[in-house]
Amino acid sequence: MANETRKKKQESQFLSYLRTADKSDLQVLAKLLAPYLADTDLRQCKIWGDRNRLHLENITIPINDLLLNTRSGHITIEKDCFFGHRCMLLTGTHDYEKLGKERLAAVPSSGRDIHIKEGVWLGSGVTVLGPATIGENAVIAAGSLVTGDVPPNTIMAGHPAKPIKKIDGSELD
Ligand SMILES: CC(C)(COP(=O)(O)OP(=O)(O)OC[C@H]1O[C@@H](n2cnc3c(N)ncnc32)[C@H](O)[C@@H]1OP(=O)(O)O)[C@@H](O)C(=O)NCCC(=O)NCCS
Repeated sequence: MANETRKKKQESQFLSYLRTADKSDLQVLAKLLAPYLADTDLRQCKIWGDRNRLHLENITIPINDLLLNTRSGHITIEKDCFFGHRCMLLTGTHDYEKLGKERLAAVPSSGRDIHIKEGVWLGSGVTVLGPATIGENAVIAAGSLVTGDVPPNTIMAGHPAKPIKKIDGSELD
């Protein structure tokens, strides 16, 4: 208890020092912290919406700086999936028939689930719009936009993403 009180006191002294520090000291501190903040940012997903709608099913690889929007559906990620930087999985949408502030508030709470099946690789900068299921072992090329289901074992690329080849070199269906 005494330890906790001392810690709180130390923290408040530290914060009050920061508040009175001059600009040049704060700039040095910002430079010192920048690499650590950047590293943390690259290793941390951001969730917009209900965290309980994110289902990480026995994931084996840490997910990095994914943006996960669960406003209009659940997001499931199975094992052995991995993601390049700055991918977005977006279930959320707005009713475009509404106008003004009403449009902002017109967000359906369901119907746009995203399911990333086992072994999928999303290259950097991929955006997935729900509803969508990405089949087992599929690969989505860097910068692509997925707007629907992706068959298993298929490499997809483009805006919107289209099949470009199969992972084993076989002919596309
Ligand atoms: C998907 C990927 C693995 C395919 O690699 P590849 O088999 O060597 O593919 P190729 O370079 O032979 O390209 C095949 C075709 O797809 C196109 N293509 C490849 N990547 C593309 C992309 N990101 N967007 C649009 N088209 C793409 C190529 O232009 C080529 O088209 P063409 O046949 O008309 O010439 C690779 O393009 C990719 O996106 N890698 C992800 C890189 C990344 O994000 N790294 C970060 C670490 S996770």
